[in-house]
Amino acid sequence: MNAKYVPRSSFLVQRLKRVMRVKVLFVCLGNICRSPMAEGVFQKMVDDAGLSEQIWVDSAGTGSWHVGEAAHRGTQKVLREHGITYNGRARQIRPADVADDTYLIALDASNLEDLQRYAGQHTKLFRLLDFATETSERDVPDPYYTGNFAYVYQLVEDGCRGLLAAIRQREGI
Ligand code: 4NP
Repeated sequence: MNAKYVPRSSFLVQRLKRVMRVKVLFVCLGNICRSPMAEGVFQKMVDDAGLSEQIWVDSAGTGSWHVGEAAHRGTQKVLREHGITYNGRARQIRPADVADDTYLIALDASNLEDLQRYAGQHTKLFRLLDFATETSERDVPDPYYTGNFAYVYQLVEDGCRGLLAAIRQREGI
């Protein structure tokens, strides 16, 4: 079952989340451009690898400005062009998100700093592009300002590929 088809706050989703072994939360500023893109890309990689019952994927923003909104039109378009449908709604990070068993994946250095402040000592806190192999960029530029969703997609895909490989190795799955 793909839990993405039911509202993520529902009782069923919360139960499913508890039984999933590995949890991954992508975090950007608004949760409408970059982290939903990463969530969509990573979820597809997880599904394609047959790991959707073992890895929980979600995203959130550090800010609250866009809570409840659909992903940015540019994010939806580029995801659609790659065969990915994204139906999530923006939400702000909450204390329960920073559990020890969750990989917290920041989209840029500023998100990473915010997360360090929010989560304190956390052993699974990383920046997405630290897992990328095909770029020297370490921060995913914000397409809310640059408008370049296609470039952001390339970076996100590169980072997500490396992240999934790293998690599989670390978790033995
Ligand atoms: P995101 O992009 O962090 O990739 O979702 C942004 C979206 C909205 C704003 C900033 C960044 N904003 O200031 O409203």
